[in-house]
Amino acid sequence: MKRYSIIMFLALLGFPVFSQIQDSLKLEWGKMNASKDAQYEVYNDAKFGMFIHWGAYSELAGTWKGEKIPKLGEWIMYHAQIPRDEYRSVCKGFNPTGFDAETWVKLAKEAGMKYIVAMTKHHDGFSMYHSEVSSFNIYDYTAFKRDPIEELYTACKKYNIRLGLYYSHSIDWMEGDAGYAQKKQEVPTHSDHYGVNLWDPSSISYENYLENKAKPQMREILKKFPDLIEVWYDFSRFMNKQQSFDFYKLAYDIQPKTLINSRVGNDFGDFLVAGDNQIPTTVSPENKAWETPGTLNNTWGYKSYDNDWKSYDEMLYWIVEIASKGGNYLLNVGPDGKGIIPAESVKILKEIGKWMKVNGEAVYGTKSWNTQKEGATLLEMKSTTDREEKGFNLKFTPQDFWFTQKGNYVYVISLTKPLENKTIVKSLLGCQQQIKSIKLLGLDGELKWKVEMNQVLISLQKIKNNLFDHGFVLKVEMK
Ligand code: GLC
Repeated sequence: MKRYSIIMFLALLGFPVFSQIQDSLKLEWGKMNASKDAQYEVYNDAKFGMFIHWGAYSELAGTWKGEKIPKLGEWIMYHAQIPRDEYRSVCKGFNPTGFDAETWVKLAKEAGMKYIVAMTKHHDGFSMYHSEVSSFNIYDYTAFKRDPIEELYTACKKYNIRLGLYYSHSIDWMEGDAGYAQKKQEVPTHSDHYGVNLWDPSSISYENYLENKAKPQMREILKKFPDLIEVWYDFSRFMNKQQSFDFYKLAYDIQPKTLINSRVGNDFGDFLVAGDNQIPTTVSPENKAWETPGTLNNTWGYKSYDNDWKSYDEMLYWIVEIASKGGNYLLNVGPDGKGIIPAESVKILKEIGKWMKVNGEAVYGTKSWNTQKEGATLLEMKSTTDREEKGFNLKFTPQDFWFTQKGNYVYVISLTKPLENKTIVKSLLGCQQQIKSIKLLGLDGELKWKVEMNQVLISLQKIKNNLFDHGFVLKVEMK
């Protein structure tokens, strides 16, 4: 890949571009990051994970005092400008008696997911685990008196699913100002205050919040829940370099192997997080680790009236497009106020699981190949609102293929039925001398193939047509 497009890709995902790398914090970060090589393998093997947005906001389900509040469900406190005392009462009444950690973990497993990233504290400041640092947590503050993170941790171990944890380190609508005053001091003309509680601000300073809540809670979480696959920080827009570095380092000091996401801020992440529901336009250069967080409808936290569910075909498209560009896919579920994952989400995840059972080999542990995709069907996925406004109207054709690679194998992925019992893969032309065998995932035996009229033609004769309902994957063994 050309140097220019590498820089563009890195810049697009907020990855450090060369001029910034030299300072001392960066050097220290570099050493810590370099010690995590083995962990990158684990992360790449996993590829597909479940994100879970769940908190007191799930109980409100997108409605406040009879009014439907637009935008993301977990942002309801912000968009409805709920005073802190009133929101505290919402938290007090949160009693998700239907929550069962094993049901969630088993669903992730059935969907073919290898890891789960769960919320310990979102922007509303309410902790979803039993915290000694702040009594504003689900165990001490409610009648529920259980620690959902602890229960998930145990269930994940039981079912061999890796756990990662999300923590909103910078924004906390109950305490602090997310670094907004600090930003104004640095840049007096700065006026963007998106995400800051200005409707009922707390008197606690940002520094005080960071030192007395966020950092101690993170240390507590990392000690309480060892062996995390990743730590998911979020929304560090006003944080300075030192503060982001501190959050990276405190996680490293307790769990040196855990990968930290780029939303820790200021280019200190081990892996890149694309924008929400965004797929980068280019392939990851040098196979750098990255992840797209994505929703099943248009919200992360539960909204009772968001029924814009993504279809099975659309979900396969996201999985395949992301894998062919070398990324991981962290797909969200938003359980309701009782702790139940919506039936539509369960249905689609089970369908995905069936596809993954047969074809997951083309996703787990793979990297991008020298061609990412052939065929004319393209769609740019830019953000949650972009997807909400555009919808998904792609019709895949038999000429569309995505590619991944693992060791000596190249996987050729189609998302629709082939033409007349055969398929033609243009990108295999030129490497036909290296091809040792071609198989179809889910079937025993080798497929016949030949080069005819300058085309690599693979026979799919005598294969039951319903096998191709959602496409197929060819496994090409190279010499
Ligand atoms: C954004 C949102 C947040 C959501 C997250 C998921 O940062 O603020 O609500 O948790 O993205 O990627």
